[in-house]
Amino acid sequence: MTWHVVTGGAGFIGANLARALSQAGDQVVVVDDLRLGRREYLAGLANIQLRKVDAADIAALTAALRDVPDVSVEVWHLCANSDIRKGATDPSVDLHATFLTTFAVLEVMRARGWGVLHFASTSAVYGDHGMAAVDEAANTRPVSNYGAMKLASEAIIRAACETFLTHARLLRFPNVVGVPATHGAVLDFTRRLMADPLRLTVLGNGRQQKVYLHVAELIEAMLFVRAQALGTCEVYNLGPSDAGICVADIAQIVRDRVAPSATISCANEARGWVGDVPRFRYDVSRLAALGWTPKLTSAAAVARAVEEIAQQERAPYLATLNA
Ligand SMILES: NC(=O)c1ccc[n+]([C@@H]2O[C@H](COP(=O)([O-])OP(=O)(O)OC[C@H]3O[C@@H](n4cnc5c(N)ncnc54)[C@H](O)[C@@H]3O)[C@@H](O)[C@H]2O)c1
Repeated sequence: MTWHVVTGGAGFIGANLARALSQAGDQVVVVDDLRLGRREYLAGLANIQLRKVDAADIAALTAALRDVPDVSVEVWHLCANSDIRKGATDPSVDLHATFLTTFAVLEVMRARGWGVLHFASTSAVYGDHGMAAVDEAANTRPVSNYGAMKLASEAIIRAACETFLTHARLLRFPNVVGVPATHGAVLDFTRRLMADPLRLTVLGNGRQQKVYLHVAELIEAMLFVRAQALGTCEVYNLGPSDAGICVADIAQIVRDRVAPSATISCANEARGWVGDVPRFRYDVSRLAALGWTPKLTSAAAVARAVEEIAQQERAPYLATLNA
């Protein structure tokens, strides 16, 4: 049986991954300090243990993983700061949660002799390439502290491949949507429209256009890459090949589902916040050549997630009515 250590496994993507791994019959150890993740996201799943620990603390992480065996272990490093805007005003957030967690995970892996690492990287490592479709060899020039710390994480993982890592998969995710949503534009719009069903103000001019992948398809892609016989250190863009969907269109889909009478207003700025990449498009031919492409377009992924997130946010509201 394989043991999977999933950092950030109580968060949005991590909980979906932990579920898929446990359903495959493997043993899963989730490492999460629950700053954003929640224990409930793992409720009812078999073969899962949660260790509440700061993954940047090498001693605490070592102790939390002491009972994991030394053989047949794979590490999925997903914990990070997911509030990209926060990094513009407080860079220590990304340093700690995004980079130092990677450093600590590698230190523990080196000490334990664990050689297999799957890393949740991001399109943010590329920065702003306009609407050019960026492939894995494109220049990496991040414009956010988050993207910079992810790129630095990729760099130390690559260096570790020269010494103790036997398999490293650097998986560059696009915007990912679905439930349990912990952050992101769809959740933000949904919550704001539930609080004020008459108006929604969008950050930026609404023409920011990005690619989206539904979390169910992301997990499928991660497991697909895992199953391939590849070189020691491989990097993949994960996502659709379409031109994406713009923020104003996402706002309209959420508005139509949650509060149809609301008026939507946009600002003048081309980007939503400092560090935002206003347009982004992937070249995903490397993963397609291996045999995986998503079935959902960006627009279809968002539409599915809007419905799921509306239900997620409606449930606590209905619970308060029934209390
Ligand atoms: N959601 C997206 O659109 C997206 C896009 C690109 C990349 N990613 C990457 O995917 C990964 C998962 O993202 P997500 O959307 O599920 O975010 P999330 O915030 O829902 O999950 C991250 C989890 O990490 C935990 N965490 C943070 N700092 C920690 C620390 N120091 N020690 C232990 N746990 C800690 C949080 O409590 C949370 O449960 C992240 O690495 C993120 O950068 C996500």
